[in-house]
Amino acid sequence: MPNVLVIGSGGREHALGWKLKQSPHVEKIFFAPGNGGTISIGENISIGINEFHKISELVREKNISLTVVGSEEPLVNGIVDYYYSQHLPQQGHFIFGPTKLAAVIEGSKAFSKSFMLRNKIPTAEFISTRNFNEAVSHLQKCNYPIVIKASGLAAGKGVTICENEKEAITTIEDFLVRKTLGDSGNEIVIEEFLEGEEISILALSDGETVKTFLPAQDHKKIYDGDKGPNTGGMGSYAPVPFVTKEMLDEIHNVILVPTIQGMKNEGREFRGCLFAGLMLTKSGIKVLEFNCRFGDPETQPLMLLLENDLYDLLMSCTNVNYEKQFSEIDLRFSHQSACCVVMVSGGYPGKYEKGKLISGLDDLSTSLRCAQGDDVIFHAGTVIQNSQTSNLSEGVLSDKSQTTTSGGRVLGVTSKASSLQEAISKSYELTSQISFDGMFYRKDIGHRVLK
Ligand code: AMP
Ligand code: GLY
Repeated sequence: MPNVLVIGSGGREHALGWKLKQSPHVEKIFFAPGNGGTISIGENISIGINEFHKISELVREKNISLTVVGSEEPLVNGIVDYYYSQHLPQQGHFIFGPTKLAAVIEGSKAFSKSFMLRNKIPTAEFISTRNFNEAVSHLQKCNYPIVIKASGLAAGKGVTICENEKEAITTIEDFLVRKTLGDSGNEIVIEEFLEGEEISILALSDGETVKTFLPAQDHKKIYDGDKGPNTGGMGSYAPVPFVTKEMLDEIHNVILVPTIQGMKNEGREFRGCLFAGLMLTKSGIKVLEFNCRFGDPETQPLMLLLENDLYDLLMSCTNVNYEKQFSEIDLRFSHQSACCVVMVSGGYPGKYEKGKLISGLDDLSTSLRCAQGDDVIFHAGTVIQNSQTSNLSEGVLSDKSQTTTSGGRVLGVTSKASSLQEAISKSYELTSQISFDGMFYRKDIGHRVLK
Protein backbone atom coordinates (compact mmCIF):
# COMPACT_ATOMS: atom_id res chain seq x y z
CA MET A 1 0.00 0.00 0.00
CA PRO A 2 1.18 3.54 -0.70
CA ASN A 3 3.10 5.69 1.73
CA VAL A 4 2.49 9.43 1.90
CA LEU A 5 4.71 12.36 2.87
CA VAL A 6 3.31 15.63 4.22
CA ILE A 7 5.74 18.55 4.11
CA GLY A 8 5.40 21.09 6.91
CA SER A 9 4.87 21.34 10.65
CA GLY A 10 1.69 23.31 11.24
CA GLY A 11 -1.90 22.60 12.16
CA ARG A 12 -2.80 22.45 8.47
CA GLU A 13 -0.27 19.67 7.89
CA HIS A 14 -1.52 17.75 10.94
CA ALA A 15 -5.08 18.06 9.61
CA LEU A 16 -4.10 16.91 6.10
CA GLY A 17 -2.21 13.96 7.57
CA TRP A 18 -5.11 13.09 9.88
CA LYS A 19 -7.49 12.98 6.93
CA LEU A 20 -5.07 11.09 4.65
CA LYS A 21 -4.59 8.54 7.41
CA GLN A 22 -8.28 7.61 7.10
CA SER A 23 -7.81 6.56 3.49
CA PRO A 24 -7.80 2.80 2.97
CA HIS A 25 -5.13 3.45 0.31
CA VAL A 26 -2.61 4.82 2.74
CA GLU A 27 -0.18 2.57 4.60
CA LYS A 28 2.05 5.00 6.45
CA ILE A 29 2.40 8.77 6.71
CA PHE A 30 5.70 10.58 7.04
CA PHE A 31 5.97 14.23 8.04
CA ALA A 32 8.91 16.47 7.22
CA PRO A 33 9.48 17.81 9.79
CA GLY A 34 6.05 17.39 11.50
CA ASN A 35 5.24 18.37 15.10
CA GLY A 36 4.35 16.90 18.48
CA GLY A 37 0.91 15.85 17.24
CA THR A 38 1.83 14.31 13.90
CA ILE A 39 4.02 11.79 15.71
CA SER A 40 0.90 10.02 16.93
CA ILE A 41 -0.34 9.35 13.38
CA GLY A 42 2.90 8.92 11.47
CA GLU A 43 6.65 9.31 11.58
CA ASN A 44 8.39 12.66 11.83
CA ILE A 45 11.55 13.00 9.79
CA SER A 46 13.85 15.85 10.64
CA ILE A 47 14.17 17.42 7.20
CA GLY A 48 13.45 21.09 6.46
CA ILE A 49 10.70 22.08 4.03
CA ASN A 50 13.19 23.56 1.54
CA GLU A 51 15.69 20.68 1.62
CA PHE A 52 14.58 19.31 -1.73
CA HIS A 53 17.48 16.92 -2.21
CA LYS A 54 17.00 15.27 1.20
CA ILE A 55 13.24 15.11 0.60
CA SER A 56 13.75 13.37 -2.76
CA GLU A 57 16.08 10.83 -1.12
CA LEU A 58 13.46 10.16 1.55
CA VAL A 59 10.77 9.71 -1.11
CA ARG A 60 12.82 7.02 -2.87
CA GLU A 61 13.99 5.34 0.32
CA LYS A 62 10.50 5.10 1.86
CA ASN A 63 8.77 4.45 -1.45
CA ILE A 64 6.42 7.41 -1.02
CA SER A 65 3.78 7.57 -3.74
CA LEU A 66 2.25 10.95 -2.85
CA THR A 67 3.86 14.05 -1.37
CA VAL A 68 1.54 16.79 -0.12
CA VAL A 69 3.09 20.22 0.38
CA GLY A 70 1.58 22.36 3.14
CA SER A 71 3.14 25.78 2.94
CA GLU A 72 3.76 28.13 0.03
CA GLU A 73 7.50 28.51 0.42
CA PRO A 74 8.67 25.22 -1.11
CA LEU A 75 6.05 25.56 -3.87
CA VAL A 76 7.19 29.07 -4.80
CA ASN A 77 10.79 27.79 -4.61
CA GLY A 78 9.95 25.07 -7.12
CA ILE A 79 9.66 21.80 -5.19
CA VAL A 80 7.24 20.38 -7.77
CA ASP A 81 9.62 21.25 -10.61
CA TYR A 82 12.42 19.62 -8.61
CA TYR A 83 10.45 16.36 -8.38
CA TYR A 84 9.99 16.39 -12.16
CA SER A 85 13.67 17.20 -12.75
CA GLN A 86 14.55 14.14 -10.65
CA HIS A 87 12.01 12.02 -12.61
CA LEU A 88 10.15 11.23 -9.40
CA PRO A 89 6.56 11.41 -10.74
CA GLN A 90 7.65 9.47 -13.81
CA GLN A 91 8.72 6.73 -11.37
CA GLY A 92 5.46 6.74 -9.38
CA HIS A 93 6.37 9.35 -6.72
CA PHE A 94 3.73 12.02 -7.29
CA ILE A 95 3.57 15.43 -5.66
CA PHE A 96 0.43 17.49 -5.03
CA GLY A 97 0.88 21.21 -5.65
CA PRO A 98 1.53 23.74 -8.41
CA THR A 99 4.80 24.20 -10.26
CA LYS A 100 6.90 27.30 -9.70
CA LEU A 101 5.34 28.96 -12.75
CA ALA A 102 1.86 28.47 -11.27
CA ALA A 103 2.78 29.15 -7.62
CA VAL A 104 3.69 32.69 -8.68
CA ILE A 105 -0.01 33.43 -8.21
CA GLU A 106 0.90 33.64 -4.50
CA GLY A 107 4.64 34.34 -4.80
CA SER A 108 4.14 37.65 -6.60
CA LYS A 109 1.19 39.88 -5.73
CA ALA A 110 2.23 42.12 -8.65
CA PHE A 111 1.80 39.10 -10.94
CA SER A 112 -1.51 38.01 -9.44
CA LYS A 113 -2.99 41.53 -9.64
CA SER A 114 -1.99 42.02 -13.29
CA PHE A 115 -3.20 38.47 -14.03
CA MET A 116 -6.61 39.34 -12.55
CA LEU A 117 -6.75 42.54 -14.58
CA ARG A 118 -5.89 40.69 -17.84
CA ASN A 119 -8.44 37.99 -17.11
CA LYS A 120 -11.20 40.29 -15.84
CA ILE A 121 -11.28 38.70 -12.39
CA PRO A 122 -12.80 41.19 -9.92
CA THR A 123 -10.28 42.67 -7.51
CA ALA A 124 -9.41 46.01 -5.87
CA GLU A 125 -8.07 48.81 -8.13
CA PHE A 126 -4.28 48.94 -7.90
CA ILE A 127 -0.93 49.90 -9.25
CA SER A 128 2.31 47.97 -8.82
CA THR A 129 5.75 49.54 -8.88
CA ARG A 130 9.40 49.18 -7.89
CA ASN A 131 9.93 52.94 -8.05
CA PHE A 132 9.73 55.11 -4.92
CA ASN A 133 8.87 58.35 -6.73
CA GLU A 134 6.17 56.65 -8.79
CA ALA A 135 4.68 55.15 -5.64
CA VAL A 136 4.65 58.48 -3.80
CA SER A 137 3.19 60.42 -6.72
CA HIS A 138 0.42 57.82 -7.04
CA LEU A 139 -0.64 58.67 -3.47
CA GLN A 140 -1.96 62.05 -4.69
CA LYS A 141 -4.73 60.18 -6.50
CA CYS A 142 -5.73 57.95 -3.55
CA ASN A 143 -8.61 58.11 -1.12
CA TYR A 144 -7.74 56.83 2.35
CA PRO A 145 -7.45 54.28 3.78
CA ILE A 146 -5.32 52.54 1.15
CA VAL A 147 -3.57 49.21 1.27
CA ILE A 148 0.13 48.80 0.52
CA LYS A 149 1.49 45.30 -0.03
CA ALA A 150 4.94 43.86 -0.51
CA SER A 151 4.72 41.79 -3.67
CA GLY A 152 6.77 38.81 -2.50
CA LEU A 153 6.19 36.25 0.26
CA ALA A 154 6.26 37.90 3.66
CA ALA A 155 4.79 35.38 6.11
CA GLY A 156 1.75 37.56 6.81
CA LYS A 157 3.79 40.75 7.41
CA GLY A 158 3.54 42.22 3.92
CA VAL A 159 0.22 44.07 4.08
CA THR A 160 -0.25 47.49 5.68
CA ILE A 161 -3.49 49.44 5.79
CA CYS A 162 -2.58 53.14 5.74
CA GLU A 163 -5.01 55.73 7.13
CA ASN A 164 -3.28 58.78 5.64
CA GLU A 165 -0.51 59.92 3.31
CA LYS A 166 2.09 60.12 6.08
CA GLU A 167 1.58 56.46 6.99
CA ALA A 168 1.59 55.53 3.32
CA ILE A 169 4.94 57.24 2.68
CA THR A 170 6.48 55.56 5.74
CA THR A 171 5.26 52.16 4.51
CA ILE A 172 6.58 52.75 1.00
CA GLU A 173 9.94 53.77 2.50
CA ASP A 174 9.94 50.66 4.70
CA PHE A 175 9.40 48.34 1.76
CA LEU A 176 11.28 50.04 -1.08
CA VAL A 177 14.04 51.95 0.70
CA ARG A 178 14.68 50.46 4.16
CA LYS A 179 13.99 46.97 2.77
CA THR A 180 12.36 45.85 6.02
CA LEU A 181 11.09 42.73 4.23
CA GLY A 182 14.23 42.18 2.15
CA ASP A 183 13.68 41.27 -1.48
CA SER A 184 9.98 40.54 -0.84
CA GLY A 185 9.42 44.31 -0.76
CA ASN A 186 11.39 45.18 -3.93
CA GLU A 187 8.09 45.60 -5.71
CA ILE A 188 4.91 46.86 -4.06
CA VAL A 189 1.21 46.90 -4.81
CA ILE A 190 -0.84 49.94 -3.77
CA GLU A 191 -4.53 49.16 -3.81
CA GLU A 192 -7.96 50.38 -2.97
CA PHE A 193 -9.25 49.52 0.51
CA LEU A 194 -12.22 47.15 0.29
CA GLU A 195 -14.93 46.89 2.90
CA GLY A 196 -17.10 43.90 3.64
CA GLU A 197 -17.02 40.36 5.01
CA GLU A 198 -13.89 38.39 4.27
CA ILE A 199 -14.15 34.70 3.43
CA SER A 200 -11.77 31.94 2.35
CA ILE A 201 -12.56 29.68 -0.56
CA LEU A 202 -10.35 26.65 -1.11
CA ALA A 203 -10.61 24.74 -4.36
CA LEU A 204 -8.83 21.77 -5.86
CA SER A 205 -7.84 21.69 -9.50
CA ASP A 206 -6.15 19.33 -11.91
CA GLY A 207 -5.35 22.30 -14.13
CA GLU A 208 -8.73 22.14 -15.87
CA THR A 209 -11.61 21.24 -13.55
CA VAL A 210 -12.29 23.10 -10.30
CA LYS A 211 -13.92 21.60 -7.19
CA THR A 212 -14.71 23.91 -4.31
CA PHE A 213 -14.65 23.22 -0.58
CA LEU A 214 -17.26 24.64 1.75
CA PRO A 215 -16.74 28.37 2.38
CA ALA A 216 -14.69 29.11 5.49
CA GLN A 217 -13.86 32.18 7.53
CA ASP A 218 -10.56 32.91 9.26
CA HIS A 219 -10.01 35.37 12.13
CA LYS A 220 -6.71 37.07 11.39
CA LYS A 221 -6.45 39.62 14.20
CA ILE A 222 -5.02 38.62 17.54
CA TYR A 223 -7.75 40.07 19.79
CA ASP A 224 -11.49 39.65 20.14
CA GLY A 225 -13.59 41.93 17.98
CA ASP A 226 -10.95 41.74 15.20
CA LYS A 227 -8.59 44.11 16.99
CA GLY A 228 -4.80 44.27 17.17
CA PRO A 229 -2.12 43.05 14.77
CA ASN A 230 -2.60 40.39 12.12
CA THR A 231 -1.60 36.81 12.89
CA GLY A 232 -1.38 33.62 10.86
CA GLY A 233 -5.02 32.98 11.87
CA MET A 234 -6.61 32.70 15.32
CA GLY A 235 -9.54 30.47 14.43
CA SER A 236 -11.85 29.46 11.65
CA TYR A 237 -15.11 27.77 10.91
CA ALA A 238 -17.02 26.26 8.01
CA PRO A 239 -19.42 26.47 6.34
CA VAL A 240 -20.15 30.21 6.46
CA PRO A 241 -23.95 30.57 6.76
CA PHE A 242 -24.19 33.95 4.97
CA VAL A 243 -22.50 32.61 1.83
CA THR A 244 -25.42 31.53 -0.35
CA LYS A 245 -25.56 28.99 -3.16
CA GLU A 246 -25.82 31.92 -5.62
CA MET A 247 -22.67 33.48 -4.20
CA LEU A 248 -20.82 30.17 -4.48
CA ASP A 249 -21.93 29.86 -8.12
CA GLU A 250 -20.69 33.38 -8.79
CA ILE A 251 -17.35 32.62 -7.10
CA HIS A 252 -17.01 29.47 -9.19
CA ASN A 253 -17.96 31.06 -12.50
CA VAL A 254 -16.49 34.54 -12.17
CA ILE A 255 -13.37 33.86 -10.10
CA LEU A 256 -12.23 30.23 -9.86
CA VAL A 257 -12.89 28.93 -13.38
CA PRO A 258 -11.47 32.04 -15.13
CA THR A 259 -8.40 31.82 -12.88
CA ILE A 260 -7.70 28.17 -13.65
CA GLN A 261 -8.42 28.73 -17.36
CA GLY A 262 -6.37 31.95 -17.45
CA MET A 263 -3.40 30.25 -15.80
CA LYS A 264 -3.63 27.43 -18.32
CA ASN A 265 -3.83 29.86 -21.24
CA GLU A 266 -0.76 31.68 -19.96
CA GLY A 267 1.25 28.44 -19.79
CA ARG A 268 1.00 28.22 -16.01
CA GLU A 269 -1.30 25.21 -15.54
CA PHE A 270 -2.36 25.17 -11.89
CA ARG A 271 -2.64 21.74 -10.28
CA GLY A 272 -3.15 21.88 -6.56
CA CYS A 273 -5.18 23.78 -4.00
CA LEU A 274 -6.11 27.31 -5.04
CA PHE A 275 -7.03 29.46 -2.06
CA ALA A 276 -8.97 32.63 -2.82
CA GLY A 277 -9.21 35.23 -0.06
CA LEU A 278 -12.37 37.14 -0.98
CA MET A 279 -14.12 40.29 0.18
CA LEU A 280 -17.91 40.36 -0.13
CA THR A 281 -18.26 44.06 -0.94
CA LYS A 282 -21.38 46.09 -1.70
CA SER A 283 -20.26 46.20 -5.32
CA GLY A 284 -19.71 42.46 -5.63
CA ILE A 285 -17.31 39.71 -4.64
CA LYS A 286 -13.65 40.69 -5.08
CA VAL A 287 -10.37 38.83 -4.72
CA LEU A 288 -8.05 40.09 -1.97
CA GLU A 289 -5.38 37.51 -2.65
CA PHE A 290 -4.68 34.11 -4.10
CA ASN A 291 -2.66 31.47 -2.29
CA CYS A 292 -1.23 28.38 -3.97
CA ARG A 293 -1.90 25.98 -1.07
CA PHE A 294 -4.35 24.96 1.65
CA GLY A 295 -5.24 27.61 4.23
CA ASP A 296 -4.23 27.45 7.86
CA PRO A 297 -6.44 27.29 9.97
CA GLU A 298 -9.23 26.85 7.34
CA THR A 299 -8.04 23.33 6.53
CA GLN A 300 -8.66 22.11 10.09
CA PRO A 301 -12.49 22.44 10.11
CA LEU A 302 -12.69 21.52 6.41
CA MET A 303 -10.95 18.19 6.98
CA LEU A 304 -13.47 17.30 9.70
CA LEU A 305 -16.31 17.96 7.27
CA LEU A 306 -14.88 16.43 4.08
CA GLU A 307 -16.36 13.01 3.36
CA ASN A 308 -14.24 12.03 0.34
CA ASP A 309 -11.08 9.99 0.48
CA LEU A 310 -8.42 12.73 0.48
CA TYR A 311 -5.79 10.45 -1.07
CA ASP A 312 -8.06 9.82 -4.09
CA LEU A 313 -8.74 13.52 -4.46
CA LEU A 314 -5.15 14.71 -4.29
CA MET A 315 -3.78 11.84 -6.35
CA SER A 316 -6.35 12.34 -9.11
CA CYS A 317 -5.37 16.03 -9.34
CA THR A 318 -1.76 15.24 -9.98
CA ASN A 319 -1.62 11.80 -11.67
CA VAL A 320 -3.52 11.74 -14.96
CA ASN A 321 -3.37 7.94 -15.02
CA TYR A 322 -4.80 7.50 -11.52
CA GLU A 323 -7.59 4.94 -11.21
CA LYS A 324 -10.13 7.74 -10.56
CA GLN A 325 -10.58 10.81 -12.77
CA PHE A 326 -10.59 14.09 -10.83
CA SER A 327 -13.37 15.50 -13.03
CA GLU A 328 -15.62 12.59 -12.07
CA ILE A 329 -15.26 12.90 -8.30
CA ASP A 330 -17.84 15.03 -6.48
CA LEU A 331 -16.68 16.68 -3.31
CA ARG A 332 -18.92 15.54 -0.47
CA PHE A 333 -19.26 17.19 2.92
CA SER A 334 -21.00 16.39 6.16
CA HIS A 335 -24.06 18.58 6.73
CA GLN A 336 -22.59 19.58 10.07
CA SER A 337 -20.49 22.63 10.95
CA ALA A 338 -16.96 22.72 12.31
CA CYS A 339 -14.95 25.25 14.29
CA CYS A 340 -11.24 25.56 15.10
CA VAL A 341 -9.99 27.70 17.99
CA VAL A 342 -6.25 28.40 17.80
CA MET A 343 -4.36 28.48 21.11
CA VAL A 344 -1.21 30.60 20.89
CA SER A 345 1.84 31.38 23.02
CA GLY A 346 1.63 34.57 25.11
CA GLY A 347 3.14 37.48 23.15
CA TYR A 348 2.38 36.06 19.70
CA PRO A 349 2.44 37.45 16.98
CA GLY A 350 5.35 39.33 18.60
CA LYS A 351 8.02 37.70 20.75
CA TYR A 352 7.00 34.68 22.79
CA GLU A 353 8.60 32.00 24.95
CA LYS A 354 8.82 28.34 24.02
CA GLY A 355 9.15 25.14 26.01
CA LYS A 356 5.97 25.50 28.10
CA LEU A 357 4.45 22.25 29.27
CA ILE A 358 0.94 21.66 27.86
CA SER A 359 -1.47 19.91 30.19
CA GLY A 360 -4.86 18.34 29.54
CA LEU A 361 -4.12 16.73 26.18
CA ASP A 362 -3.94 13.11 27.37
CA ASP A 363 -7.36 13.17 29.02
CA LEU A 364 -8.98 14.58 25.90
CA SER A 365 -7.43 12.12 23.48
CA THR A 366 -9.24 9.23 25.16
CA SER A 367 -12.72 10.78 24.84
CA LEU A 368 -15.40 9.20 22.67
CA ARG A 369 -15.81 12.34 20.55
CA CYS A 370 -12.08 12.30 19.79
CA ALA A 371 -12.25 8.64 18.85
CA GLN A 372 -15.15 9.38 16.48
CA GLY A 373 -13.34 12.30 14.84
CA ASP A 374 -15.86 14.86 16.14
CA ASP A 375 -13.17 16.57 18.22
CA VAL A 376 -9.56 16.77 17.08
CA ILE A 377 -6.75 18.71 18.71
CA PHE A 378 -4.50 19.56 15.79
CA HIS A 379 -0.98 20.45 16.84
CA ALA A 380 1.13 23.24 15.33
CA GLY A 381 3.99 24.62 17.48
CA THR A 382 4.47 21.60 19.74
CA VAL A 383 7.20 19.06 20.41
CA ILE A 384 7.33 15.89 22.43
CA GLN A 385 9.91 16.16 25.22
CA ASN A 386 11.54 13.83 27.75
CA SER A 387 11.29 10.76 25.63
CA GLN A 388 13.40 9.20 22.94
CA THR A 389 11.48 10.99 20.24
CA SER A 390 13.50 9.35 17.51
CA ASN A 391 12.45 5.90 18.76
CA LEU A 392 8.79 6.70 18.92
CA SER A 393 6.89 4.67 16.46
CA GLU A 394 3.48 5.45 15.12
CA GLY A 395 0.91 5.88 17.87
CA VAL A 396 3.28 4.68 20.60
CA LEU A 397 4.18 7.43 22.98
CA SER A 398 6.01 6.57 26.16
CA ASP A 399 4.29 7.32 29.49
CA LYS A 400 7.02 9.83 30.13
CA SER A 401 6.42 11.83 26.99
CA GLN A 402 5.33 15.39 27.55
CA THR A 403 4.12 17.87 25.02
CA THR A 404 5.63 21.33 25.17
CA THR A 405 5.22 24.48 23.11
CA SER A 406 7.67 25.30 20.32
CA GLY A 407 5.93 27.97 18.25
CA GLY A 408 3.49 30.90 18.17
CA ARG A 409 0.41 29.02 17.10
CA VAL A 410 0.39 25.97 19.36
CA LEU A 411 -2.86 24.01 18.97
CA GLY A 412 -5.97 24.13 16.77
CA VAL A 413 -8.82 22.82 18.88
CA THR A 414 -11.37 21.64 16.33
CA SER A 415 -14.89 20.27 16.76
CA LYS A 416 -17.81 19.46 14.56
CA ALA A 417 -21.48 19.36 15.51
CA SER A 418 -24.90 19.65 13.98
CA SER A 419 -24.94 23.46 14.22
CA LEU A 420 -22.22 26.10 14.09
CA GLN A 421 -23.22 27.32 17.54
CA GLU A 422 -22.76 23.85 18.96
CA ALA A 423 -19.44 23.30 17.13
CA ILE A 424 -18.15 26.56 18.61
CA SER A 425 -19.32 25.58 22.12
CA LYS A 426 -17.65 22.16 21.81
CA SER A 427 -14.35 23.72 20.70
CA TYR A 428 -14.41 26.11 23.65
CA GLU A 429 -15.31 23.31 26.07
CA LEU A 430 -12.18 21.45 24.96
CA THR A 431 -10.03 24.57 24.94
CA SER A 432 -10.92 25.22 28.58
CA GLN A 433 -9.47 21.82 29.54
CA ILE A 434 -6.06 22.54 28.03
CA SER A 435 -3.52 24.82 29.59
CA PHE A 436 0.04 26.06 29.28
CA ASP A 437 1.89 28.96 30.80
CA GLY A 438 1.06 32.22 29.00
CA MET A 439 -1.51 30.66 26.66
CA PHE A 440 -3.91 32.91 24.81
CA TYR A 441 -6.86 32.37 22.50
CA ARG A 442 -9.71 34.43 21.11
CA LYS A 443 -13.03 33.92 22.84
CA ASP A 444 -15.16 35.05 19.91
CA ILE A 445 -14.47 32.73 16.98
CA GLY A 446 -17.60 32.80 14.82
CA HIS A 447 -18.75 36.16 16.22
CA ARG A 448 -19.64 37.52 12.78
CA VAL A 449 -22.30 34.85 12.53
CA LEU A 450 -23.39 34.65 16.15
CA LYS A 451 -23.79 38.42 16.58
P1 AMP B 1 -3.49 39.46 1.95
O1 AMP B 1 -2.21 38.84 2.41
O2 AMP B 1 -3.38 40.18 0.65
O3 AMP B 1 -4.68 38.58 2.06
O4 AMP B 1 -3.82 40.56 3.06
C1 AMP B 1 -3.90 40.25 4.43
C2 AMP B 1 -5.14 40.86 5.02
O5 AMP B 1 -5.14 42.26 4.81
C3 AMP B 1 -6.40 40.34 4.36
O6 AMP B 1 -6.81 39.16 4.93
C4 AMP B 1 -7.36 41.50 4.63
O7 AMP B 1 -7.89 41.40 5.92
C5 AMP B 1 -6.47 42.71 4.56
N1 AMP B 1 -6.51 43.26 3.19
C6 AMP B 1 -5.76 42.94 2.13
N2 AMP B 1 -6.10 43.64 1.04
C7 AMP B 1 -7.10 44.45 1.41
C8 AMP B 1 -7.90 45.42 0.73
N3 AMP B 1 -7.69 45.75 -0.54
N4 AMP B 1 -8.85 46.04 1.44
C9 AMP B 1 -9.06 45.77 2.73
N5 AMP B 1 -8.34 44.86 3.44
C10 AMP B 1 -7.37 44.21 2.79
N1 GLY C 1 -5.65 31.55 6.80
C1 GLY C 1 -4.94 32.34 5.87
C2 GLY C 1 -3.88 31.65 5.15
O1 GLY C 1 -3.72 30.45 5.22
O2 GLY C 1 -3.15 32.33 4.44
